[in-house]
Amino acid sequence: MELQGGVNQLSLIDGVLHRPRHSWSEQVQSFLHHLHRAGLKGVPRPLGFAPDGRERVSYLPGLTLDQSTIKAFYTDRVLISAARFLRQFHDASVDYVELEGHPWFETPLEPAEVICHNDFAPYNCALKKGQVAGLFDFDTASPGPRRWDIAYAVYRFCPLSASPTGSGISINLDEQRRRLHLFCQIYGTNIDLALIRLVCSRLTALVNLMLREAAAGNEAFSSHIAAGHDKLYQADIAYLNQHGEALIN
Ligand SMILES: Nc1ncnc2c1ncn2[C@@H]1O[C@H](COP(=O)(O)OP(=O)(O)O)[C@@H](O)[C@H]1O
Ligand SMILES: [Mg+2]
Repeated sequence: MELQGGVNQLSLIDGVLHRPRHSWSEQVQSFLHHLHRAGLKGVPRPLGFAPDGRERVSYLPGLTLDQSTIKAFYTDRVLISAARFLRQFHDASVDYVELEGHPWFETPLEPAEVICHNDFAPYNCALKKGQVAGLFDFDTASPGPRRWDIAYAVYRFCPLSASPTGSGISINLDEQRRRLHLFCQIYGTNIDLALIRLVCSRLTALVNLMLREAAAGNEAFSSHIAAGHDKLYQADIAYLNQHGEALIN
């Protein structure tokens, strides 16, 4: 069976997912081993590499995001379990000893408190009984500050968008504020203007990545730009600059 993500095409063969191999895949496999040794539940088992070179990981059962399941991903129960999951994932990553000589997708950011997933969003989670029970797609993981990951997580899970175009869900400012507070309270981090600014920096980094990859010939990112995704992120940055105070109070 073939599975299509926003960027990658995966094959499910005898219950094992085959992903394209990249220069960072060895580091990701080693990191997934660490998470399992640390006892974290709900992340793919690293299963090495197939004869054709593709990366192999276990398939996580559960409900994943598509047009028909969007509503199920924006309940308070999902939000709370997402915050808990992110906290447990970060805590489990703290003592990871990196595989020497193998890169990550991104240059590590300082302070490197944890390994950031860097794409912690509904579209990379699997739900069980209405709660986040699985996290996949570790391609973009790399060392960084906890709040770098939190910033993207709240942007996607609350979500903190100006319009429902990106997430497919319509949530007003009051509800965004309430959900932001709930997520941060469960994770255990301050709600302040610095966090809102960090969301903006995170989105700027995302736009820059899209432009860089598209210029280098990456077709997935070129199609995102053709579909106007960069404009949506710019609109969200403007929205957050305008409503930051209202969101944190
Ligand atoms: N380990 C996994 N367990 C269950 N489903 C997965 C797993 N990895 C990927 N998928 C499914 O395949 C889709 C695409 O995979 P993903 O790694 O997220 O690709 P992309 O980088 O393009 O987003 C996901 O959205 C999800 O539905
Ligand atoms: Mg994905």
